[in-house]
Amino acid sequence: MEHFDGRTAVITGGASGIGLATAERLGREGMNLVIADIEERVLATEVAGLQADGFRAIGVVTDTADFESVKAMAAAAIAEFGDIHLVFNNAGVGGGGPMLEPDDMDMWDWTLGVNLYGVVHVIKAFGPGMIAHGHPCHIVNTASMAGLLPTPGLGVYTASKYAVVAMSETLALEAAETNLGVSVLCPGFVRTGIADSDRNLPEHMVDATAEPTEEQDLMRAAMRDLVSGGLPPTEVAERILEAVKKDTFYILPHPQYAPQVAARGARIAAGDGPLSWDI
Ligand SMILES: NC(=O)c1ccc[n+]([C@@H]2O[C@H](COP(=O)([O-])OP(=O)(O)OC[C@H]3O[C@@H](n4cnc5c(N)ncnc54)[C@H](O)[C@@H]3O)[C@@H](O)[C@H]2O)c1
Repeated sequence: MEHFDGRTAVITGGASGIGLATAERLGREGMNLVIADIEERVLATEVAGLQADGFRAIGVVTDTADFESVKAMAAAAIAEFGDIHLVFNNAGVGGGGPMLEPDDMDMWDWTLGVNLYGVVHVIKAFGPGMIAHGHPCHIVNTASMAGLLPTPGLGVYTASKYAVVAMSETLALEAAETNLGVSVLCPGFVRTGIADSDRNLPEHMVDATAEPTEEQDLMRAAMRDLVSGGLPPTEVAERILEAVKKDTFYILPHPQYAPQVAARGARIAAGDGPLSWDI
């Protein structure tokens, strides 16, 4: 995709972090912006900020885990701006625990609902219409380095992000002869709100009386530490824009991890066991 000015981008999870930084960057290219997010208040504030900066932006409260909500958002986006040219399929949550945790199926349902089904819903709600309008267009799905390398202690998150890589690869191959380009974003740590993803837990999972365990406190502190030392989201937004312009499939904003990805491939081919992502 070469032309951005006057075209339309949809950004899920666009009220914070990587999504918001990318929305601002695409706005500077002259794109119309549809910001979809589950956090209503933050969404309203950030969209007002984008509008005040002179961008053509609307906000649509959306739960990407709910296909009807995503379809309604797609209808609102098209009603406002017409054809959609760029979809940043980015909403995600950092949930999860060890594979052997016996009693965390709610966590699996929530995380897979947003990180896996959310991505499926957005592809299905937008992809066919993007191919039908025939103009150059692009979908960027957000996975993670945890979608390319095993991450012990984050079973469901890792599973969801491997799935996003797999779906993106499959979609890219299926769409190869069309006007639709596809990329998958696999960052290491980025300075965002991801360590506090439980702010968006579904109501039935929020126990207002429960004190976090010592282990949960330590886990959150460790995640906040890693995230705060990560790349600024504005830098990731630059990599995304470059990749869309050049039609690059794998977007790795942290190239220092590429040798580990290559080593994983070699170990698979040799029949060797997995090595943990060395952060
Ligand atoms: N920050 C990192 O270190 C990092 C690393 C690799 C991958 N990622 C991925 O980047 C993506 C963006 O996350 P971020 O780091 O910017 O975190 P963030 O928490 O700052 O932003 C995520 C956004 O998604 C929204 N969201 C959550 N659930 C939603 C739902 N059901 N429907 C719609 N919106 C929803 C949140 O409200 C938030 O605005 C995620 O997919 C995440 O897994 C982040």
